[in-house]
Amino acid sequence: MPTAQHLESLAMDIAREAGDLAQRRRSEGVAVAATKSALADIVTHADREVEALIRGRLATERPGDGFLGEESGAERGSTDITWVVDPIDGTVNYAYGIPSYAVSIAAVRGEPEPDKWEALAGAVFSPATGELFHAAQNAGAWLYGARLAVNVEPSAAGALLATGFGYDPATHAGDLARVARVMPMARDLRRIGAASLDLAYVAAGRLDGYFERGLQPWDHAAGELLVAEAGGRMSRVELEDTAGRPLFVAAGPGLFERLFAAAVGS
Ligand code: IPD
Ligand code: CA
Repeated sequence: MPTAQHLESLAMDIAREAGDLAQRRRSEGVAVAATKSALADIVTHADREVEALIRGRLATERPGDGFLGEESGAERGSTDITWVVDPIDGTVNYAYGIPSYAVSIAAVRGEPEPDKWEALAGAVFSPATGELFHAAQNAGAWLYGARLAVNVEPSAAGALLATGFGYDPATHAGDLARVARVMPMARDLRRIGAASLDLAYVAAGRLDGYFERGLQPWDHAAGELLVAEAGGRMSRVELEDTAGRPLFVAAGPGLFERLFAAAVGS
């Protein structure tokens, strides 16, 4: 059994290499390859190429492990470890030339489903800033050699929050109602456009909290370990208006209960 730190350094290595490729392709110009769940949900050739690179590297370094990627699907392994990968999180930003996109790679143990897995290691790499956020289970979350810690409490000015909106227009009214419920506790609200960065920023204390309905496993697998290792709290909850696409809430310990209650609407 490899240590969580061994998996972490592998995730970091591959995330850097994958992010460099994404950035190179971005500078050459980006073309949309297809639309997915909705017209707004796109995949570029670079998403596929970057995932192929990550999958190939993992197949060489960890041939027995499973794989769950946004673009090329799932494959069970012979070990109890699965790599959960978003090659480009923030694809719409990427396509428009907005630099908030990231490569997200996590190693999880157990059933490769969010409520069942145990996250062992994760890396979130932002090619545009060069920032590589990383964490290993019970060994902290880190950026440039500095240990990350969430904000325990927001400042007196209110909480700096982030959220996201899914691609399905039918869910937007519910998302906006959630925003209205949460705004009284906010100093401001960000919509960064990459869930892995939202979570990395909560871990780094750049945001006080984050909530979004409908995240996919690869959007949050690495980020949730960053938040947990930085002392944050998180919950995924199935709501009546979120059929099959749970609400995800992450925040520092002093804010979490209040944010969760407002986001859920209880
Ligand atoms: C999306 C981003 C976005 C979030 C969406 C995700 P993608 O991932 O993380 O911020 O609001 O829910 O699907 O499609 O760019 O990989
Ligand atoms: Ca993606």
